[in-house]
Amino acid sequence: MHDIIDIIKERRTTEDFLPKYVDWDKISKIIDAGRHAPSSGNIQNWKFIVVNSPDKKRGLAEAAFGQHKITLASSLIVVCGEEDKGERYYGLRGARLYTIQNCAAAVQNMLLEATSLGLGSKWIGAFDEDKVREICSIPAEVRPQAIVAFGYAKSIPPKPPKYPLESLVYLEKWRSKLRNPNRYLKNYSAILKGNVEEIKTVMQKTATLVKEKAAPKAKSITEKLREKLTRKKE
Ligand SMILES: Cc1cc2nc3c(=O)[nH]c(=O)nc-3n(C[C@H](O)[C@H](O)[C@H](O)COP(=O)(O)O)c2cc1C
Repeated sequence: MHDIIDIIKERRTTEDFLPKYVDWDKISKIIDAGRHAPSSGNIQNWKFIVVNSPDKKRGLAEAAFGQHKITLASSLIVVCGEEDKGERYYGLRGARLYTIQNCAAAVQNMLLEATSLGLGSKWIGAFDEDKVREICSIPAEVRPQAIVAFGYAKSIPPKPPKYPLESLVYLEKWRSKLRNPNRYLKNYSAILKGNVEEIKTVMQKTATLVKEKAAPKAKSITEKLREKLTRKKE
C-alpha cells in the first residue's frame, strides 16, 4: 500500500487523455472519495454531476473557453456547491467561503483517488458558469465550482516546480522564518538543509518558470472573461 504522501506527490494535472473508457467501478470509487471529504459542520453541501456523453463533454469543453482536450477524458465530473444550504447553516461565510472550501476538499480527494487507481485527472476552474449551468440544468441556487476530468493519461507530464518548504513556512507569526527548520520539520530536513543562497536560486528559478508557464494562460483566460463581460454589458 502506498503512503498517502507518495500519492500526493505522484498526482499530476493530465494534459492529454487517451480515448479509452474508464469503467464505472473506478469512477464510483472516485466519487466515493469525494463524498468522504471534510465539510463545514459536515453539511456536505455538494453534488457531483457525472458527464459521459460525448455531446455534453464537448459542450463543457466549449464552456471552459475551448479546453477541448478534456473531451477525450472518459468522464467529466461537475462539482457543484449548494450555496443556499451553506447560507442556511453559516450565513454569508457559509455560502461564499465554506461552500468553496468544501467542494475544493472533495475535488482534491477525487484527484488523489484517481491517482491511486492509476488514472489521470485535471481540475478545470476556468469556465463560463452560465453555459455549464445550461448544459447540466443546474438551478440558480447551486454553483458549479469545478469541472474535473478523469481518464487514462497519454503521458505523465513532468513535475511542475513547487516552492521549497523553507520559503512557505513561518513559525508562530507572519514572516517569522524557521531558524532551524530541521528541528521542526524532521522528515524534510534533507530538503531544507540547503543554504540560503541555494534556496534563493531555487525560488528565483521557480518564480520565473511559474511566470513563464502560468502568465500567458491566465492572460488568455482573463481576456476571454473580459470579452464576455463586455458583451454582457452591451
Ligand atoms: C482552482 C484551480 C483551477 C484550475 N483551472 C485549470 C484550468 O481551467 N485549466 C487547466 O489547464 N488547469 C487548471 N488547473 C490545474 C493547474 O493548472 C495545475 O494544478 C497547476 O499547473 C499545477 O500542476 P499540478 O496539478 O500537476 O501540480 C486548475 C487548478 C486549480 C486548483
